[in-house]
Amino acid sequence: MVTIREEKIADAAAREALLDAAYGASRFTKASERLREGRLPADSLSLVAVERGRIVGTVRLWHVTAGPEHPALLLGPLAVDAGHRNQGIGSALMERAIDAARAGGEREMLLVGDAPYYGRFGFSAERTGKLAMPGPFEPSRLLGLGLVPEATEDAEGLISPTGAAAAPVAAAAVHVPRSHRRPALPRAA
Ligand SMILES: CC(C)(COP(=O)(O)OP(=O)(O)OC[C@H]1O[C@@H](n2cnc3c(N)ncnc32)[C@H](O)[C@@H]1OP(=O)(O)O)[C@@H](O)C(=O)NCCC(=O)NCCS
Repeated sequence: MVTIREEKIADAAAREALLDAAYGASRFTKASERLREGRLPADSLSLVAVERGRIVGTVRLWHVTAGPEHPALLLGPLAVDAGHRNQGIGSALMERAIDAARAGGEREMLLVGDAPYYGRFGFSAERTGKLAMPGPFEPSRLLGLGLVPEATEDAEGLISPTGAAAAPVAAAAVHVPRSHRRPALPRAA
């Protein structure tokens, strides 16, 4: 039986292994990663799916602002272990995350992902057309969901991180494989 619960500190290594398997090293180069790096996820909004003590799914949410004074949550990454897909685990994680965000008074949720999958939860690119990411992105994959009836669709501008800063980690304590490192930014002309 699979259960959904909040992530614990001890789950971090299994969560990272799951994300590596699902997305590979390229996950660290995505524009959405620029909104997560160096930040803590939103309180109580890191969820895992667990089967017999093993992490088989993960999703986390992050505080951002969608243009000035438009607080929102960025959802992602969402991943389910390859041997456990198409059993409703991804949907269970999404529904739990949306319910928890709504219960916490959040107004808007954003993500970058496949509209054919996330559309079933109400996400659409219709409310994100005036938003930009801090890096290259496909506009058709930047999706939004209003969490309250009065949520407006007038968000405009650059999506920026607003979550609490993560404690700095001693460089010697964490080895980041070369393939996972952020590529050097091109020099300005
Ligand atoms: C995307 C993912 C989280 C879905 O998890 P899951 O537990 O298999 O999802 P569910 O069981 O809730 O839903 C399965 C349904 O979603 C569909 N689906 C899965 N990935 C999809 C995608 N990228 N686009 C469209 N539909 C997708 C399945 O075909 C299935 O459809 P059905 O309900 O009509 O049979 C999982 O496949 C995963 O971790 N994939 C690797 C990461 C990835 O490719 N992400 C792409 C989305 S950005």
